[in-house]
Amino acid sequence: MKNKNVSMAVIRRLPKYYRYLSELLENDIKRISSKELSKLTDFTASQIRQDLNNFGGFGQQGYGYNVEDLQRELGKILGLDKTYRAVLIGAGNLGQAIANYRGFSDSGFEILGIFDKNPKVTGKKLRDVEVKAMEDMGDFIKENDIEIGIICTPKEGSQEIADTLVESGVTGIWNFAPADLKVPENITVEDVHLNESLFTLSYLLKEKK
Ligand code: NAI
Repeated sequence: MKNKNVSMAVIRRLPKYYRYLSELLENDIKRISSKELSKLTDFTASQIRQDLNNFGGFGQQGYGYNVEDLQRELGKILGLDKTYRAVLIGAGNLGQAIANYRGFSDSGFEILGIFDKNPKVTGKKLRDVEVKAMEDMGDFIKENDIEIGIICTPKEGSQEIADTLVESGVTGIWNFAPADLKVPENITVEDVHLNESLFTLSYLLKEKK
């Protein structure tokens, strides 16, 4: 199902719905109204109804939402009903933290290859995956049908890494390097900049004083 007209603002709210629905499911809660979901997520009930209506009517008047059905459908919409094959580049502090976090593989994101340019790092293992030299990355991606590249290196060199990822067949990049990567239109880049979130916190703290 392609939903080309759904705004990024809606898409960015979906993971939060999915997270709360998963928690409700774990607690054996079978149904929930948009009002109750609103209390959990801090989005308004009408916003929730509008957001979910983008993908078809899930709720029923007077009943609310069936938690299991909605969680499953949102999972499909988010593409979480499949597994993704990923490589990670830059096995430093950040790269190790990401590679060692089980939550990503539990959600279906498998880091099958880890690459670093530093010979002191190559040969080491992170969660049973041996860190390999950068020269081996292109062939590894092709041979293992890798879809996602996770860049955990400094800004310097990150564009070249992105270029190699794309040339080798990766279609999605999860980018932690503080750089705006240039990629062809058919490639998706999702940037994560923790600093930006921290600076927003700083602004909000300042405003409260
Ligand atoms: P680090 O120095 O511990 O690790 C960087 C690793 O990348 C090293 O193992 C190094 O050998 C490798 N590397 C460097 N250039 C490379 C290249 N061209 N090809 C392959 N491997 C390469 O640094 P740390 O603390 O892990 O941070 C890494 C980067 O991530 C930093 O530049 C920092 O700006 C960024 N960062 C971003 C965050 C975010 O929210 N987006 C949060 C924390 C760090």
